[in-house]
Amino acid sequence: MPEFENYIDWRIKNPSDDVMTEFLNVEFVDDKNVKRKLSREEILSFCNVLAGAGNETTNRLMGWSAKVLHDHPDQRRELAQNPSLIPEAVEEILRYEPMGPFTARYVTRDVEYYGQTVPAGSTMMFMLAAANRDERRFPDPDRFDIHRDRAAHMTFGYGIHTCPGNVLARLEGQIFLEEMLKRFPEWDLDMERAKLTCTSTVRGWDTLPARVRAKAA
Ligand code: HEM
Repeated sequence: MPEFENYIDWRIKNPSDDVMTEFLNVEFVDDKNVKRKLSREEILSFCNVLAGAGNETTNRLMGWSAKVLHDHPDQRRELAQNPSLIPEAVEEILRYEPMGPFTARYVTRDVEYYGQTVPAGSTMMFMLAAANRDERRFPDPDRFDIHRDRAAHMTFGYGIHTCPGNVLARLEGQIFLEEMLKRFPEWDLDMERAKLTCTSTVRGWDTLPARVRAKAA
């Protein structure tokens, strides 16, 4: 993206305390045991990952928030009346409609799961969305319930590649609901014109037309 190229050039001349300056200055030992800095290409490619991973997902979170709360007007009303419940509601939306329903891995060595060997060289797909509806962890899993006893969901992945943006994403989700419910405690969706899309990484609403009702003065 040319915007990032221009920004890198500008940041080289104008260092700051931001993440781009850190990318430019960081020194590390790479997989060939060489101590070095990140190349320009590496910085650009990571900026693109970060921009995609940070935007596509959080706007899907907002779409799902609008859809799921529309479908559960009692819980929407409760949230409008008691915004301190919003962080719990965001966790439940993340569990119920994960924006990235699956992740995949390349298998580098033979591993055994449930008595079966997965040979090196395979690809495996993990259905995060299914794990989020596992009744052993979430009783009555198909019920959307902002008061459910909280158990960790898989929406931000698991292990070494767990989403590094999860705190920011949760915060964005909370601010969205706070600001939305403050102004428009109720909305109707035009599902005839709504369009759901699923790319190789995310699932959500491409368009979700809504008629909002402003809060009574
Ligand atoms: C609701 C919002 C989000 C969801 C559902 C989400 C989900 C995920 C998931 C499931 C992974 C793991 C992928 C894997 O294991 O293969 C991941 C990785 C990642 N996420 Fe997020 N994410 C969200 C928001 C963000 C934000 C706001 C940022 C940054 C601004 C971000 C940056 C990243 C990056 C850089 C990775 C790759 C980490 C790695 O491979 O080590 N994400 N995300």
